[in-house]
Amino acid sequence: MKTKVKNSILAVALACFALSGCAKKVDIEAPATLKSALESKFYIGTALNQSQFTGQDTAGIRIIKEQFSAVVPENCMKSEVIHPEENRYDFTQADQFVAFGEANNLFITGHCLIWHSQTPPWFFVDATGKDVSKEVLIERMKNHITTIVSRYKGKIKGWDVVNEAIMDDGSYRESKFYTIIGEEFIPLAFQFAHEADPDVELYYNDYSMTFEGKRSGVVALVKSLQEKGLRIDAVGMQGHIGMDYPEIDEFEKSLLAYAALGVNVMITELDLTVLPHPGGHVGADVAQTAEYKQEMNPYADGLPADVDAAWTARFNDFFKLFFKHQDKITRVTLWGVSDGDSWRNNWPVPGRTDYALLFDRNHQPKPIVNLIINEATKK
Ligand code: G3I
Repeated sequence: MKTKVKNSILAVALACFALSGCAKKVDIEAPATLKSALESKFYIGTALNQSQFTGQDTAGIRIIKEQFSAVVPENCMKSEVIHPEENRYDFTQADQFVAFGEANNLFITGHCLIWHSQTPPWFFVDATGKDVSKEVLIERMKNHITTIVSRYKGKIKGWDVVNEAIMDDGSYRESKFYTIIGEEFIPLAFQFAHEADPDVELYYNDYSMTFEGKRSGVVALVKSLQEKGLRIDAVGMQGHIGMDYPEIDEFEKSLLAYAALGVNVMITELDLTVLPHPGGHVGADVAQTAEYKQEMNPYADGLPADVDAAWTARFNDFFKLFFKHQDKITRVTLWGVSDGDSWRNNWPVPGRTDYALLFDRNHQPKPIVNLIINEATKK
């Protein structure tokens, strides 16, 4: 039979088959991603480094676009970068970061306006090097916050207004902001940020948020802001966790204590280290350093299967906790895209190999990514 005739008979047959409804509509769904799976639960975010928001890290950028719905700058909006001298701002990197977030339709968080670390020395002293007065420092804080928040009004949706102002025992950190102004530097910071952009969300952000002292200190702080009628939308629990700290039920206790204040909870800087911590001290105080010792870097050549499995199980337990309280949590942000990006490789011991994030050094998703997606989408 002529091919032409054969083809037309085939075409007719296929048309009839399709019309008969017998053809099963094969719904070829795009593979689920963290962003798609978590869309109805909370933002899933990541911290961006300069090579990502400037377009250099193409592998990392692919993951960011595919997997995440929120971004925060790891470093480019810290005072030492964005406001290096009293009368000089440098918005180069911050503008690039915000442009990346807008171009990819991401929820953009600013980090961070007032922090004791990475604040350039000029902020606290006069021309002679003496500490400035309370009034001068308040004016400098107001100028800093107003200039930056106003610039990104309508683009940045939430700010880490004050970062790490409470110690593990609940006392105020004796930063220069505290010793010169007193505890009112915190409400002033929230007031200035709100005046600069009345619509932007405002957060208090800190680490080791499961210590009892810290928990009551942060609860007291949030209550004091609320009693002053100041806007505070969320408490950021950074979530720099280890294999044996914190106890997950302590984490839940803190999460519930903050949520009970009527604010949202955000997990803002999540990572899970597998490495030993010198001195057994935990937390995320960037000022901590320790000398390199071989025994502190046990997995330089790769992660043993049993450790990898334990890491996956622990991370999965935390995400199950986040799903359990998804009505209180509005954002979970990983502190970096792939293992090679993580600050954990160099803190507190420089030059180590950690495995703290959701994507490995080859920018491949670890098994935890599918576990999170399956847990989020299971019926
Ligand atoms: O960009 C400069 C570069 O020009 C210079 O050559 C190089 C060497 O001096 O330093 C580079 O800046 C470094 C920056 O990371 C970017 O890599 C800073 O020295 C270094 O201190 C900075 O570390 C960051 C740290 O905060 C201090 O700002 C980490 O990447 C960042 O992950 C970490 O993040 C903090 C959060 O902001 C707050 N919560 C704790 C968390 C972990 O410490």
